Amino acid sequence: MSIPVWSSQMELGIPDLDSAHKAFFAELAHITAAPDDQFGALFFLLIAKLERDFEEEEELMERIDFPALNSHREQHARILSGLHHVVPHVMNGEIESGRQAIELLQEWFLFHLTTMDLALAVAVDLDNGADGLPESIVAQATQEHVQDQSRN
Ligand SMILES: [Fe+2]
Repeated sequence: MSIPVWSSQMELGIPDLDSAHKAFFAELAHITAAPDDQFGALFFLLIAKLERDFEEEEELMERIDFPALNSHREQHARILSGLHHVVPHVMNGEIESGRQAIELLQEWFLFHLTTMDLALAVAVDLDNGADGLPESIVAQATQEHVQDQSRN
């Protein structure tokens, strides 16, 4: 399994979200590199951290009256449900099940970050009085556009 690496391109321009996501990525890297005898404890800690992060994100959505709160909350609940489903297996020593869950979690996180969390970041920015997309997102979109143009 490859070690997850955080990139500044994953930043959404909202410091609270970015620092939580960066710390979460560090936890993903830590558990991915951990030996089997430490995996179970780290797996429980990771789920607990994710629960706190999701709760904070959902409180933020409530504060700004974010219109997509329900669908975003549903996505959080689905991934937590999947992880909780794996817990008994990890407790029984089936570490490979836990490692597969972590790999899927990493894929899910990247998708969630670039879809739902991105939409939330734009809403937070607008709620803060910005008159457009956050600069980091514009820079990223511009860079992707330039890369697409150079491929054609
Ligand atoms: Fe989220």
